[in-house]
Amino acid sequence: MSFFVWTESMSVGVEEFNNHHKKLIELINKLFDAMSEGQGKTVIGDILQELLKYTEYHFSAEEAKMKELGYPAYPGHQAEHQKFVEEVTKLYRKYQGGDLFLSVDTLNFLKDWLNKHILQTDMAYKPFFTNKGIK
Ligand SMILES: [Fe+2]
Ligand SMILES: [Fe+2]
Repeated sequence: MSFFVWTESMSVGVEEFNNHHKKLIELINKLFDAMSEGQGKTVIGDILQELLKYTEYHFSAEEAKMKELGYPAYPGHQAEHQKFVEEVTKLYRKYQGGDLFLSVDTLNFLKDWLNKHILQTDMAYKPFFTNKGIK
């Protein structure tokens, strides 16, 4: 059983974004496994960086679609994205600087944030995109 599992209840109705979310979940699991196995700094640092890059890629894709279609809740959604990118950037820097030992708490933070963001903030755009015919 993986640390974090995507379920149908997390579907935001847009296939591209569901796939992005699955990939983000996969990266968090990869990080969890590397931590559990006691992998070295290079391996863990690389996964953290990959997670950061993919997070930025996914957020940009969502933001572009929201802007393109005039999604009214865009500003708040974008602000949440930005805050998370800042948090993960901080984690990455601390880790690289040797000031952070990756713990279950850190992994739980990443998991809980993403889970909550998908189920609440992303889910809020589902009816809007569905009405615009986006699948
Ligand atoms: Fe989002
Ligand atoms: Fe998302």
